[in-house]
Amino acid sequence: MTTIGFIGAGSIALQVARNAVQLGYDVILSNSRGPETLRDLVAELGPAARAATVLKTAQDADVVMTGIPMAAYRDLPVAPLRGKIVIDAINYYPPRDGHIPELDHGRTTTSGLVQQHLEGAHVAKGFNHIAAADVPTDRRPSGTPGRRALTTASDFPEAAAFVAKLYDQFGFDTLNLGPLSESWRAEFGRPAFLAALDAVGLQARLAEAPRVV
Ligand SMILES: NC(=O)c1ccc[n+]([C@@H]2O[C@H](COP(=O)([O-])OP(=O)(O)OC[C@H]3O[C@@H](n4cnc5c(N)ncnc54)[C@H](OP(=O)(O)O)[C@@H]3O)[C@@H](O)[C@H]2O)c1
Repeated sequence: MTTIGFIGAGSIALQVARNAVQLGYDVILSNSRGPETLRDLVAELGPAARAATVLKTAQDADVVMTGIPMAAYRDLPVAPLRGKIVIDAINYYPPRDGHIPELDHGRTTTSGLVQQHLEGAHVAKGFNHIAAADVPTDRRPSGTPGRRALTTASDFPEAAAFVAKLYDQFGFDTLNLGPLSESWRAEFGRPAFLAALDAVGLQARLAEAPRVV
């Protein structure tokens, strides 16, 4: 079974990890303080979960999800993630992260910066514009009218396809925005951010997005 590693074990990572375990994935959790601080969470998730250092998580997982503040993205380890799919849930929130001029001026995207840092990894945006609490409550079986849609974007089609498969297993439709350069459409501050909409509604909301907020 595929092992999904989480760098960052806060609100969004835990909701995704919980759902992943329910679906039969193995998960590894990591944070900045070390695996011993994750003992209770691992116990809650059960035998398919374990905790490790960030480095070991990146080394051992088949796929890694980032759930850390944008300000910390340069801490993501580069070498062990080469060739791996990295699902990037990071949002840029200046009051928390400080200002990053390339993002403020629309010269790149949050995941564009993560991809630039993670040279050789296959980064796909995922789970960034859904509130963590909505992950277990908004899911619906495939084909349900009005099923909530989530976006992905990647420069690597197989990474976007993996996120789309995961969304479907979790209970969401996918809107693929194309390359990472398009992922700003569902970033923090845009009309689609946190909007619980089906694919048609989300598409319309994405089209309203200003490039710079
Ligand atoms: N909360 C949501 O609803 C939601 C939804 C979608 C996307 N997001 C985005 O996902 C990211 C995480 O948000 P969150 O709400 O889950 O945050 P959170 O609850 O505050 O958790 C952040 C996690 O990141 C870890 N972390 C921080 N710096 C790190 C580093 N340098 N190396 C390894 N781990 C580090 C923290 O570990 P320590 O405590 O040990 O430092 C903690 O486990 C943010 O970019 C956020 O914008 C959030």
